Amino acid sequence: MNKKEMIYRTPLSVRFCHIGIVICFLLAALSGLSLFFPSLHLFGSVLGTPQLVRVLHPFLGCVVFILLMFMLIKLAHHNLPNKDDVRWVKNIDKVIAGNEPSDVPVGKYNAGQKFLFWGIMSLITVLFITGLIMWRRYFSDYFPIEIIRLAIFFHAIAAICLILLIIGHAYMAIWVKGSIKGMIVGSVSRAWARKNHSKWYRDEMEKTYKDEQQISNQQEISK
Ligand code: HEM
Repeated sequence: MNKKEMIYRTPLSVRFCHIGIVICFLLAALSGLSLFFPSLHLFGSVLGTPQLVRVLHPFLGCVVFILLMFMLIKLAHHNLPNKDDVRWVKNIDKVIAGNEPSDVPVGKYNAGQKFLFWGIMSLITVLFITGLIMWRRYFSDYFPIEIIRLAIFFHAIAAICLILLIIGHAYMAIWVKGSIKGMIVGSVSRAWARKNHSKWYRDEMEKTYKDEQQISNQQEISK
């Protein structure tokens, strides 16, 4: 597609970060399930032996946490709730049926994506804190057994919620055709942006128009 028909959506640093998260999260989730459910011990073979699972699982979790904190810094401002989100939520039945009304303004991320974003950030924080408390090698000696038991309980609940949320996230990414390509190459087509994120599309177009106006004004002055 002609480059002029594309809009830049996701910076390279965020795309790299997302790839790292996908790989480390998959390994951490599968190894974590093998630790929690003995019947799923085969999932642990993604990291080799059960001993390696015990050693590597917490480090992988820390990498996912650090990478997600980077995404939090980069993307939080695009995920702040606003009044347009209320209209999007009110039309959720039409969105699910694939007939999203064109008059509902949607910014860079829609209300569903924002909910997912904050859900992911909250759950990874719970997983990180509880994970540190129960990390036998370095930290668990500093906590009483009651706190460690509570940490194990909340770690398991948060992990299951996050895995379910990520399955939903990946499903939505496949469902909205073109968004995975945007996460890989960084740009999306104008048609995709207009259809799925109308307000963001308008803002980007205004910015491009203003930039072009400025360049042509400067060229006029220097003539
Ligand atoms: C195979 C699995 C995954 C796929 C296909 C996928 C796909 C995507 C896509 C396409 C986007 C960009 C959406 C857009 O530009 O509108 C995105 C954003 C994002 N993804 Fe994933 N992702 C996957 C796994 C994960 C995992 C495991 C995490 C975290 C644990 C994650 C966290 C995020 C976050 C935080 C964003 C930014 C969303 C926002 O700012 O609202 N993703 N993902």
